Amino acid sequence: MEKPDREAARVAGAGPLILGLETSCDETAAALVTRDGRILSNVVASQAELHARYGGVVPEVASRRHLELVTPVVEEALARGKKTLHDVETVAVTRGPGLIGALLIGVSAAKALAWSRRLPLVPVDHLHGHVAALYLDPEQVEPPFLCLLASGGHTLLLEVAEKSGFRVLGRTLDDAAGEAFDKGARLLGLGYPGGAALDRLARMGDPEAYRFPVARVPGLDFSFSGLKTALVYAVRGLDAGELERRRADLAASYQRAIVKALVEQTLAAAKSGKASRIAVVGGVAANSELRSAIPDAALAPLDLCTDNAAMIASAARFTPATPFPEYLALDAYASAA
Ligand code: KG4
Ligand code: ZN
Repeated sequence: MEKPDREAARVAGAGPLILGLETSCDETAAALVTRDGRILSNVVASQAELHARYGGVVPEVASRRHLELVTPVVEEALARGKKTLHDVETVAVTRGPGLIGALLIGVSAAKALAWSRRLPLVPVDHLHGHVAALYLDPEQVEPPFLCLLASGGHTLLLEVAEKSGFRVLGRTLDDAAGEAFDKGARLLGLGYPGGAALDRLARMGDPEAYRFPVARVPGLDFSFSGLKTALVYAVRGLDAGELERRRADLAASYQRAIVKALVEQTLAAAKSGKASRIAVVGGVAANSELRSAIPDAALAPLDLCTDNAAMIASAARFTPATPFPEYLALDAYASAA
């Protein structure tokens, strides 16, 4: 949910407003953002607890929950911004990539909201949304920059020359960094999604205790599946008591290997590229070790790193709108193009 200081930054009589919606995975989110990048409200209803008992997101369960939550979450975003639909000039929604059934709930809701008021609709790419978290107040980042996008579903290195998009320089060949965090957390008995819990546990451990492999892939790509297998073997070799004693060391060493892989490739890309600035976005950008590993990197505030709708509304500021009623034919997409 919204941070109090952000709430305080709300402005009365703000200019034309964008209502953003995000339902690509297990967060139902809505936000009000001004054309110049001020957040009036940013509401995120997480379904994490609902999926925790299954150890991961169950797509059909997620879709049903989005359907229940989407209207109350939009109402909450309007109420917190002290606005009504009359104040909204554009509706923005995540079109993909993500879980197709989950995306369709957001896209359908956005179409209905826009259509009912004859408003234009902006279809937003979720990855562009993560980058556009950097274009919001209080510290708007200006391209060009090199961007590491690390989340539960994606791990990419992007060259960002302008706010309207990016060029992919490298990506993970198997698991995403967030997925590696979540799988590691699960092996260490930290529940789902465990990235943040592993981060906390790692602070109490020795990152040099175990030597986990940092996969070096050619070019600017990443690979995390070998790391997860190494942790499986390390855990398997310990009895229950030993595992309990070594859990923090395992977490710290495992986290060190993920962060090292991310940082090494990012610095290699920065060396070979034109942009002097580095930015880090996506859920894994909330990781404390990663946040301190690249000095001077531009980082989105913590609540804008994980999935939210303010970043989607922000991306809509730099994406062409589809006029009423053309967007009624708009479809969602599950995978990145
Ligand atoms: O961006 P996001 O909210 O959703 C996707 O688009 O995937 O990212 C969620 C991911 C999860 O894998 C979660 O465990 C991870 O971000 N995450 C973290 C931390 N906070 C969230 N990973 C490591 N350290 C954290 N502090
Ligand atoms: Zn995301």
